[in-house]
This record gives sequence, structure tokens and C-alpha cells, in this order.
Amino acid sequence: MTSTSLPDSLIATLPGSAYTDPGVFAQEQEHIFETMWFCVARSSELAKPGAFRTVDVGRESILVTRARDLSVRAYFNVCRHRGARLRTEESGEVKRAFQCPYHAWTYDLDGKLVAAPNLTRMPDVGRTEYGLVGVAVREWLGYVWVCLAEHPPSFEEDVMGEVITRLGDVESIDRYGIANLSVGRRIVYDVRANWKLIIENFMECYHCATIHPELTEVLPEFADGYAAQYYVGHGAEFGADVQGFTVDGSAGLDRIPGVSEDQDRRYYAITVKPQVFINLVPDHVIFHRMYPVAADRTIVECDWLYLPHVVASGKDVSRSVELFDRVNRQDFDACERTQPGMGSRLYAKGGVLVPSEHHIGAFHAWVSERLGGRTPR
Ligand code: FES
Ligand SMILES: [Fe+2]
Repeated sequence: MTSTSLPDSLIATLPGSAYTDPGVFAQEQEHIFETMWFCVARSSELAKPGAFRTVDVGRESILVTRARDLSVRAYFNVCRHRGARLRTEESGEVKRAFQCPYHAWTYDLDGKLVAAPNLTRMPDVGRTEYGLVGVAVREWLGYVWVCLAEHPPSFEEDVMGEVITRLGDVESIDRYGIANLSVGRRIVYDVRANWKLIIENFMECYHCATIHPELTEVLPEFADGYAAQYYVGHGAEFGADVQGFTVDGSAGLDRIPGVSEDQDRRYYAITVKPQVFINLVPDHVIFHRMYPVAADRTIVECDWLYLPHVVASGKDVSRSVELFDRVNRQDFDACERTQPGMGSRLYAKGGVLVPSEHHIGAFHAWVSERLGGRTPR
């Protein structure tokens, strides 16, 4: 079956191997995750100088920390001496330097080599030349984004541009003041599915009526199968008797003051390729990052963000967390149910996209283009 032989209402998907082949995954690591802006941490995780987090970006481990001048820095997590990992924990804190556990080369928070056994007797070991190697860093929406490319693409075009494409402008997201919200809950999901299945799932709502009973109660228009991402600037409206974006439609938390009247009682969803999903509702923001681990495994880290006083006062956010936690589990179950089918001989040439999923075809074309046409279409 090829795309030219399909009926007009159908578009071919990628072939099954695009979701199972370690070679394709390696290409994606090199040409997508290691070249684009990649979201690695909430800025508040690096609250003070020396706090750090390690994150795998493509094939590399990256050490993200805060320097003494309070700026965020990101380095390859590789000692310049013989290549040992500087830190293996997911997060932690050092006082003023990273000391390699192997031969004790020691780097300050700016990455400079400041100490090593016999360093003064080795004048040709330049302290900057043999310092940690940094990668590009940006902070936006209270998150840290890194880019491993030697010449990073424009953050404004690639990251902010995705928000503009979805909402129409950047002001619409600025009104939620995401950088100043507090993390009320974080849930990490270990999903046995290819990262693209998770993105594709997030992009369509054809499945909403089948697997998301709670979500379609709150957002009745989702039962029709058209995702909030289908129309530029459109937010799905809460049902008439729904008080808040909660698992039972009960009242939510305090509304974010900047949210405009036309954004009130609406849900907006944004995909920032390659690995961020942002969900906006009047009283909170749900922020997903996907960390692709292998062709058939993705870790998804999801934060529920509320006004600081809501979190500080210990208000009960569980009904609002439970709604999207259920949605996530329903979605990830569907992705895990789909992953084995990608390896079936029946799916060797892929499946089809129905009209309400046609925009996923653009995502497939984008992936293929990033891989230089190496993913068979
Ligand atoms: S490998 Fe790090 S000090 Fe030797
Ligand atoms: Fe879903």
C-alpha cells in the first residue's frame, strides 16, 4: 500500500519500522534531540548555585547546574581527563565544584578546571582549555532548555514559534505567568512506547471519546474527535455545568490573574517539538517533557503548576491532578498497546490517518525531513 493508492480521506502513516528500528532511533537522537532545543529541567530544581540535574539528551549525558552568578549552565557530563561521568545521580547539590570521582580533577560551577592532583606541575594543562565543555542554555516559562548543536537554531523561531503557531501569539501564553507558578505535583511515567506514538496521540482527539470519559465530560467538544490543536487559537470550552478542570468537574483552584476573559473556562494544548507538551487551563498549567530512552521506551515527566500561594498553603490539588493523570495513563496505555503492533508484519508499510488526524501527516513529514529522508515514507 502506498499513499498514492489510498482513498482521498486517508493518509499513510510512517512504516512500523520507524517505531521499532534502533537505527532509526539513533538517527533521531542525532538529527532531532541533539540538534534542537530540548527541555531538561524546571528552573526551581536548580534553586541555588551548585544544585544540579543530569539529563540524557540524545546520546549524551548533560549536567545542568546554576553558577554563582545565578545563571544556569549546562555541560557535557564527561570529565576532560579520561572521560568519566562527573555525576551519575539524577539530581543533587555540590558546594562549589564538581570533582571527578576517578582522579579528582575538579571543575568550578563555571566549568573551569580549578584543581587536579599535581596540576601545578603540569603547566600545559590549561584550566580553561581542559574545563567542562558547555552547551547552549535558555530559560523560558520557568524551564531550562539546552541545545547540543554547535550552532543552535533560533529559540524564538523553534520554541516560541511553536506557541505562536498554536495560540496565534506569545502574549497568550505569557498571561499564564508560567515561570512564576509553583510545582504542585510531579508524576514521572515510564512508557513502553516510541516517543512518536506519544506525540501523535497528543496531537489527535479521535481517541478522546473512546478512552477519555472524564476529559470528554469536562470538555464536551472533545467527544467529536477534533483536538484543541486542530484550529489555530482555539481553546476547547468547559461544559456548561463544569466548574473547573477537575476529575469530577468540581471547582478548581484560584484562577491565574493574568488569564483573559476569553481564555477563561477553556483548555489549550500546545506541542513544542520534539518533546514538550503544554496544557493551559485557567487555574493551572500541565507541562510534559518526554525523554526518549530507546525506540520502544520513553520517560515522561509531567508537572502540575499552580499559583505559589495555592501550593504554599497546602490546598488540595488532587482532583485537578487526577484528571490529567488519568488522561495520561489512558493515553500511555493506548501507546503501549500500539507499540507491539509496530513490529507486526501487518504494519510493515504502516497504517492510515483519518481526516481528523491528517495534521499528524505533517509531523511524519517533519520527522522524515529531519532524518534527511532516511525514514521510508
Ligand atoms: S577521568 Fe576524571 S579525573 Fe580522571
Ligand atoms: Fe488522549
